Amino acid sequence: MRYPLNREPIPLPPRYKRFVLLMGASKGGTGKSTLAVNLGVTASLGGLKTIIFDTDVDGDTGQESCMRWAKNRSPGDLVVRRASLARIGEAIRWAEQNGFDLIIIDTAGRDMAGMKHALDLADFMLTPSQPSPLDLQATAPIRRLWSVSQTPASIALTQVIRETLPRTRYYVDRYAEQGAVLPAFVGRRVQYLDAMEQGLGVSEYLPGDVGDKEMRRLLAAIFAEVQKRQVA
Ligand SMILES: Nc1ncnc2c1ncn2[C@@H]1O[C@H](COP(=O)(O)OP(=O)(O)OP(=O)(O)O)[C@@H](O)[C@H]1O
Ligand SMILES: [Mg+2]
Repeated sequence: MRYPLNREPIPLPPRYKRFVLLMGASKGGTGKSTLAVNLGVTASLGGLKTIIFDTDVDGDTGQESCMRWAKNRSPGDLVVRRASLARIGEAIRWAEQNGFDLIIIDTAGRDMAGMKHALDLADFMLTPSQPSPLDLQATAPIRRLWSVSQTPASIALTQVIRETLPRTRYYVDRYAEQGAVLPAFVGRRVQYLDAMEQGLGVSEYLPGDVGDKEMRRLLAAIFAEVQKRQVA
C-alpha cells in the first residue's frame, strides 16, 4: 500500500528565523549530496521553505549532484541553485531576503578551501560518515576545522548496513570518543539510489517508509542538537 505524503509540520528550532545547514566532509563520497536532497525534500514537505545551494560545481571535477537531481524533478516548492562556496555569504543573504526557512549548502568532497568561511556562516554542519575504520580516520581534518569555529557540528552515521547493529553501536562509541555524533542513523538502502534517479526524495518516493522516517528523525536530531548546544 502506498501512503500519502507526510506533510506533518517540521518546525525550525526556537529562536531561528532561518536555518543554514552546511553539508561537509574531509572525504568524498560519504553521502553529503544524498542527504542534502533528501533532507531538502522532507523539510519542504514539512512546510519549511527550503533551498539547496550546490557548490560542487567547479570545472571538470564538479559533481553537480544536486543540480543534476533537480533536472529530473518537476517544478515544486523546493529550490535548487548553483552557488560558489567562496561567495556563499551572498547566496545566504539572497535566500534570507527571499524568505527561505531552511538553506542547505552541499559542498564538494575534500573541499576544505572556503569551508571555514561557510562553517562560520552556518547554523550547523553535518558530516556524514560510514561505520568503517577508514571513514572514522578520515574525519580528523573536518574535526580540526570544527574546533576553530563556534558553529555546532556533528557526524551522522550513514550507509549503515542493517544486519550489523552491534557494529553500528561500536562505531557510534568510536566516533563519540572523538566528538559529536547524532543519535540518528541513515541506512544503506536501495530507495536512496532509486529516488535519486527520479529526481525524488525518499519521502516522496516511499512516503511513510523507513527512509522517510530516517530523514524526519535526522532533521529532528539536528534541530535538537543546536538547542542542546545553546543551553550548554
Ligand atoms: N543511504 C544510502 N544508501 C545507499 N547508497 C547511498 C546512501 N547514501 C549515499 N549513497 C551512495 O553513495 C555514493 C556517494 O553518495 P553521495 O554522492 O551522496 O556522496 P557525496 O558525499 O556527496 O560525494 P562527493 O564527495 O563526490 O560529493 C553514491 O553512489 C550514492 O548513491
Ligand atoms: Mg556530493
